[in-house]
Amino acid sequence: MRTQVAIIGAGPSGLLLSQLLHKAGIDAVIVERVSGAHVLSRIRAGVLEQVAIDLLDEAGVGARMHREGLVHGGFGMLYAGRRHRIDMNTLTGGKNVMVYGQTEVTHDLMDARTAAGLPTYYEASDVQVLDFDTQRPRVSFTHAGQSYELQCDFIAGCDGFHGVCRASVPRQSIEEFEKVYPFGWLGLLSDTPPVHDELIYVNSPRGFALCSQRSKTRSRYYLQVPLTDRIEDWTDAAFWQELRLRLDEEANAKLITGPSIEKSIAPLRSFVTEPMRFGRLFLAGDAAHIVPPTGAKGLNLAATDVKYLCNALVDYYQAHSEAGIDGYSARCLRRIWKAERFSWWMTSLMHRFPDDGPITSRFQEAELDYLLNSHAGSLSIAENYVGLPLDFAEPAQ
Ligand code: APR
Ligand code: PHB
Repeated sequence: MRTQVAIIGAGPSGLLLSQLLHKAGIDAVIVERVSGAHVLSRIRAGVLEQVAIDLLDEAGVGARMHREGLVHGGFGMLYAGRRHRIDMNTLTGGKNVMVYGQTEVTHDLMDARTAAGLPTYYEASDVQVLDFDTQRPRVSFTHAGQSYELQCDFIAGCDGFHGVCRASVPRQSIEEFEKVYPFGWLGLLSDTPPVHDELIYVNSPRGFALCSQRSKTRSRYYLQVPLTDRIEDWTDAAFWQELRLRLDEEANAKLITGPSIEKSIAPLRSFVTEPMRFGRLFLAGDAAHIVPPTGAKGLNLAATDVKYLCNALVDYYQAHSEAGIDGYSARCLRRIWKAERFSWWMTSLMHRFPDDGPITSRFQEAELDYLLNSHAGSLSIAENYVGLPLDFAEPAQ
């Protein structure tokens, strides 16, 4: 079996890459470890930057997002019992974000791939990426009891944090940067109307909380919890009670509670791999980097990696130029480090760290007071939250 680009992983990175390549007339085969239903069962963040919205449109899968997604021009920050609004739209001269769940994005991409009749091997086992340091890389895997070998020009490692691609790179060729945070996020999804029409990020003495949403009838809430907490010990009633203790009076008056339809605890991590290209193997999305969810940059970064990779492959096949693939890693990393910095900073500003004393809470309050009352401070938050442009800080040619 032969293709131009073998894509490992059918998460948002792999699916979006395949769709952009298809539009550009480049062939790809996707090999995914789990079933399509399993991929769709993962609940993740749902805030899309303008750059990601544009990419979904470019991939031809934006119609439902524009119909059902919610355009948000601002969000709230609550601290010291007071709520402030970051008016992203006004501060950035008209930019917004779109609230549309990652599950829906993945669904739309899967439907488009199926409609185009493009090959995806779900539930593939023993996936191996081979010979990517030569001109003839290969991928081997087992599917429905049969062994396959896929020959290709390039391998795109879109297989997430625990995938096989990054793990197949010789240790001496890769540098990893990591920070693990001393708490987790307990998330609850419920079919109840959101407490507010915009998101609210909360710094409270009892820890961080976030009021998010998926639609006008589906809410997503999060609580900072110790990593030692177990999900079985968090009843829905306990969750709602703790959330109330972290919100302001106005939100409490409007909060509508209901049974959870999903509840889980996720750890928080900052992680970056350098470089992101190894011969003819490229890493993209969570395979190369993880951000803590504060600021919702994960999916957006995955989308922009994939855009850079698609551009590089189009240059290779259409203009016979290797400049794009040679520059892939540096171009991605410039953007990734800025989003990593923002996510780490927002995490540090909004959470209680177990080893910090009361002075740190006062520092946080003072910083929030400064930022939210200063045009420059608010603009800096807004500009990062809506997402930096694709060519931000590109060196002049
Ligand atoms: N072989 C084939 N597929 C694999 C393998 C393997 N050995 N290992 C993992 N996979 C698959 C996973 O099953 C998963 O479906 O790769 C896919 C990776 O998908 P994601 O983890 O969703 O990563 P990515 O597509 O880069 O999406 C990034 O996900 O975690 C969020 O915040 C993040 O929103 C961002 C997005
Ligand atoms: C979510 O809706 O899941 C979400 C939103 C914003 C974040 C993180 C998660 O910063």
